[in-house]
Amino acid sequence: MSDDRAVQLSVNVDHVATLRQARRAVYPDPVEAAGDAEAAGAAGITVHLRGDRRHIQDDDVAALVRTVQGKLNLEIAAEEEMIALALDWQPGQVTLVPERPDEVTTEGGLDLASQGDRVAAAIERLAAGGIAVSLFLDPDPAQVERLAALVAAGAPAAGFEINTDAYTKDPSAANLRAVEETAAAGAAAGLEVYAGHGLTTANVGAIAAIPAVEELNIGHWLISRSVRLGLGEAVREMLSAMAAGAQP
Ligand code: PXP
Repeated sequence: MSDDRAVQLSVNVDHVATLRQARRAVYPDPVEAAGDAEAAGAAGITVHLRGDRRHIQDDDVAALVRTVQGKLNLEIAAEEEMIALALDWQPGQVTLVPERPDEVTTEGGLDLASQGDRVAAAIERLAAGGIAVSLFLDPDPAQVERLAALVAAGAPAAGFEINTDAYTKDPSAANLRAVEETAAAGAAAGLEVYAGHGLTTANVGAIAAIPAVEELNIGHWLISRSVRLGLGEAVREMLSAMAAGAQP
């Protein structure tokens, strides 16, 4: 892998906060974990501020905005409360995600066929506030075409993150091809392409090898692995797996 094709890793530290909130304690601290992840080579940090505040809290995001050295990627639903908070905090990037209160984790990408207008309005407000906007989309080139149409109509999204959940549950050739084709459609449309959900050291290789994919967003595996290795070593292990996968 040449240096100009280094896939970046954004570490999602939500589940450090999940452990803290299980006891309503003050530890472990996702802000400290973010520092450890960056020291080990992560290019950025991701957190999802959910409406129910089940893991990351508002104060965590405010502290991360001050301390993260690389890109802070804030995942939020396209809701008024969240958009206002993001405009106030000014993270480097916002990723708009669908959110259902009773889901265990984000279950799918945004459907731009049914929610295009609402999403376009959120993109316009966030972008006008100086924030780069990404959308979480399922591996479906048709969704990328809809996003490109929104951008052409004046909703300046910078890119999108491909939901890799289906591939990680069933790493079939068809599921990989869907991710590859969606990534290629994004690159052809001039959009930044990211990917994530369900990635582990065992399945990351083929996703890291997709030429258009610039950054991977990985959380649950890394925080789980850190119980045995420590977060720094877990991040280094993942970076090695990504680099091995991205070898030509
Ligand atoms: N991308 C998005 C949009 C997510 O909501 C999540 C989970 O918070 C991830 C990536 C990371 O998924 P995982 O925790 O399975 O690595």
